[in-house]
Amino acid sequence: MSSRKRVSGAKAEAERPLLFVNAGQVVTCAGPPRARRGAEMRELALAGDVAIAVEDGVVTAVAPRRDLLKRVKKPVEVDCARGVLMPALVDSHTHAVFGAPRAAEHEMRAAGMDYMQIARQGGGIHSSVRDVRARSEKELLVLARGRVRRLASYGVGTIEVKSGYGLTLDDELKLLRVIRQLARELPVRLVPTFLGAHEVPMEFRETSARRREYIDLVIQEMIPRVGAEKLATFADVFCETGVYTAGESREILTAARKAGMAIKLHADELTACGGAELAAQLGATSADHLAAISEAGIRALAGGGTVATLLPATMLFLGKAAQAPARRMINAGIPVALATDFNPGTSPTIGLPLAMTLGVSLLRLSAAECIVAATVNGAAALGLAGQLGQIAPGFDADLALFDAGDYRELPYWLGARICRGLWTRGKACNVHDLDVT
Ligand code: NIG
Ligand code: FE
Repeated sequence: MSSRKRVSGAKAEAERPLLFVNAGQVVTCAGPPRARRGAEMRELALAGDVAIAVEDGVVTAVAPRRDLLKRVKKPVEVDCARGVLMPALVDSHTHAVFGAPRAAEHEMRAAGMDYMQIARQGGGIHSSVRDVRARSEKELLVLARGRVRRLASYGVGTIEVKSGYGLTLDDELKLLRVIRQLARELPVRLVPTFLGAHEVPMEFRETSARRREYIDLVIQEMIPRVGAEKLATFADVFCETGVYTAGESREILTAARKAGMAIKLHADELTACGGAELAAQLGATSADHLAAISEAGIRALAGGGTVATLLPATMLFLGKAAQAPARRMINAGIPVALATDFNPGTSPTIGLPLAMTLGVSLLRLSAAECIVAATVNGAAALGLAGQLGQIAPGFDADLALFDAGDYRELPYWLGARICRGLWTRGKACNVHDLDVT
């Protein structure tokens, strides 16, 4: 056989429908194409002995294998070897493009210094900003590529990535271009977020007039340029005592919305400062962190469509006892998502399953709630619940296969990587290759 024939034969095979068979358990999360709340968060829609048909990157049927073999023409069968098959996980909050790690600060906090104290002395986010400004786009691309691949290797098919360590027009554009380039070359889906208001840069902190100048720079120069170049789907602001006030956050996010971006907010992470209330008022797609949310904040989020994205690894890594009141939030009807917050300062974790473990151990969620929080509700936190996060006809074939007999093992194996297979839009990503950095 000529090599040409072999190539075309391989291509024909790749285009044939796929049939995922022999899973020990299939978690479909099938249901409405929107964030789940309250008791809905406990419904995994476990399917019995079913196979999944995938054509052109989309799930076309979930039914017993013998039925699908009659309906689907010449499928290629994917043997799930009795593992747990579920929607690929969605990490809806990361700061994955940065330079050096910040291990010294970890020790400084153990010795009694606070995260914000370190920041006020020019460390924290400022230290990553100095570092990122000094690096080329190419260098950041190489670093981020390895880190994002590793995040994906845990069974994560979609990853949100923020800018926010540049804080000049050119450096923010540099970070967003790194994300755009990675989105083009990696098999996983990346969702870019503009976070030019991640901090007030050191050079704008001397007076309130200078501080205002930076906010004007974000609103008048950065946002229009990011919008015009379509470099970000979302805009985000670090709304926190000593960083941006709720009023400033509102101004920045309103401008971003006018420029075509959807909005998110770092809200009430360390202090209750009206972040949750603002996110609800603006109809933000998500309000993230919320470890210090007030009762009024819970009431504000309860009626609306904003997803509360909880990041338990962050408070754990900062050595703080506080965590978001996840149970009260779910009981109040707020849709909850879980994400890593992967970043060099407060959450250098690369595993979303670890956030799920902490979801059970620290936030007191059930394993089912954690899975919904890291699939359907993660997708909703990115405005993608109509396309992703469940295994059902018409949804993208983003699937993850785990080496486990029961879905509860996903949060159970503390710090482990039990993902054996990952597919995005029906294309296999080699998870072992992904982690070769
Ligand atoms: O989500 N809180 C703001 N941003 C990050 C931390 C960034 C950093 O310290 O580098 C967070 O925790
Ligand atoms: Fe964050």
